[in-house]
Amino acid sequence: MKFGVIIHGGAWDIPDNAVTDHLNGVQKACNIANKLLKNGKSSLDAVEAAISVMENDSTFDAGKGSFVNQIGEVEMDAIIATEGYQFGAVCAVQNISNPIKLARLVMEKTKQHILVGKGANLFAEQMGLPFVAPESLLVGRELDRYYKIKRIPNFSAKNMFRDSRRKINGMGTVGAICLDILGKISIGVSTGGTPHKRSGRVGDTPLWGAGGYVESSVGAAATGYGEDIIKVLLTYKAVEYAKIEPSLNKAATRAITELKRVNGLGGVIMLNQNDVGFDFNTPRMAFAYQIEDTGLIVGIDPGDAKRERKDY
Ligand code: GLY
Repeated sequence: MKFGVIIHGGAWDIPDNAVTDHLNGVQKACNIANKLLKNGKSSLDAVEAAISVMENDSTFDAGKGSFVNQIGEVEMDAIIATEGYQFGAVCAVQNISNPIKLARLVMEKTKQHILVGKGANLFAEQMGLPFVAPESLLVGRELDRYYKIKRIPNFSAKNMFRDSRRKINGMGTVGAICLDILGKISIGVSTGGTPHKRSGRVGDTPLWGAGGYVESSVGAAATGYGEDIIKVLLTYKAVEYAKIEPSLNKAATRAITELKRVNGLGGVIMLNQNDVGFDFNTPRMAFAYQIEDTGLIVGIDPGDAKRERKDY
């Protein structure tokens, strides 16, 4: 294929009343990335644009709309990466609209890979990223959820990944992988983490080989319950399986099978120069993908539009 994009909008028990918004959100991000790639923009530019639009969409648990932590604050994690082991990540960053842009600046403007908390915010200031008021990221839906969860004894964030439709609705992390016309793969993932997380908690998203990984021209981006994903290095495993499996769908399925060892819940999307793939073991995962000018494929339920590669 000459260029392509795959997007995820989180693997959770996404409730029925949030399905349309999730499908619209991933479709919009996919269209934006596809247009940029078609116009010859780099896969990094396309990933940054796709993730930014989802961070600005309060449907998702990333940027505006992020979950609130135990002390009533939004703390966000993000990673961006491209070939040659280049990546930048930020953890527990606050008061910026687009953590993915900051992650890219870490990658391109520093000698480090990961900045956290106060240091990440200081760097954002140095780079001229606008400081935004907490209220612009914290939406009413999340404040309501915060107070509701506070009343639940022994609340388990993990349960929201498998069965929230009858309890408390969940939203998802966002991810994107793009291939540009120069053949370069880039990935990006952004999240507000899990609901009612401890202040300072960091999930899988910004961790290399857990939330995202690129190697040997294969990209993988994860979503799901971070504590489980970290244990099995989900995206590293997915890329390793891509070296031995005949398709990226099969590689994704084997990586998701690894989650069973830790009773883990999540999903992964994958892309290389010939193929696109994904899998998840949560009730739903919002996704969209488009290869060159073929039609856009969008889905959310298991079995939706999952197909083996033929010839792109
Ligand atoms: N996968 C997002 C998180 O656990 O933070």
